[in-house]
Amino acid sequence: MPDSDFSQSRASMVKDQISKRGINDPTVLEAFGSIPRHLFVPKNKIDSAYFDGPLAIGYDQTISQPYIAALMTEILQLKPGLSALEIGTGSGYQAAILAYLGIKVYTIERIKNLGQKASDRFKALGYDIKVKISDGTLGWPEYAPYDRIIITAAAWSVPDALMDQLKAGGRIVAPLGGRMHQNLTILDKTSDNRIKEKKVCGCVFVPLIGEGV
Ligand SMILES: C[S@@+](CC[C@H](N)C(=O)[O-])C[C@H]1O[C@@H](n2cnc3c(N)ncnc32)[C@H](O)[C@@H]1O
Repeated sequence: MPDSDFSQSRASMVKDQISKRGINDPTVLEAFGSIPRHLFVPKNKIDSAYFDGPLAIGYDQTISQPYIAALMTEILQLKPGLSALEIGTGSGYQAAILAYLGIKVYTIERIKNLGQKASDRFKALGYDIKVKISDGTLGWPEYAPYDRIIITAAAWSVPDALMDQLKAGGRIVAPLGGRMHQNLTILDKTSDNRIKEKKVCGCVFVPLIGEGV
């Protein structure tokens, strides 16, 4: 199906779901208006790709609601050239948004088929994103330290390995809390390696599963 069939849905998503709820960074709005979200959902869900909520992508996992993905992107406070580690590749949509914004993206997915499909999408769309099929709670030491870390699955706290792999002056955005409800949380590492934490809003994510939680 040609992208023009979806461009109107994408524009409505940006206006009615993202912009109206207070996301106003023009670069973030442009990214969400440009990335073809319908290519990141299963074929039988393509007509719901721009729906205002999370969607199942198989293996009991989801692609996040567009607004939540946009909020996480905005509060990461990105600038082209920064590096970001994502834990929970899922469909690959969030990673593609980061890459569109000029970020050097490293993403880890524990479910092989999801990671492989996301990697195929990145290649097809021309994004240079490094994908690892592994337990993201242990991070990706080879490319550390990172300017930003985004965790797109829920845990009570940020795994120690990820804290260690964040640069001084860097930021982590993560849903922290219990199984049924979490707080989207910003953790800033100061220049003297202290952590400052700030809750942004309530949210619901699938669980982070791994050795480091
Ligand atoms: C809400 S989905 C991620 C949505 C994704 N960012 C997107 O744009 O589609 C959460 C993902 O985290 C993955 N996950 C959970 N624990 C993980 C771990 N320890 N390491 C890597 N991925 C993990 C799940 O398999 C799932 O694909």
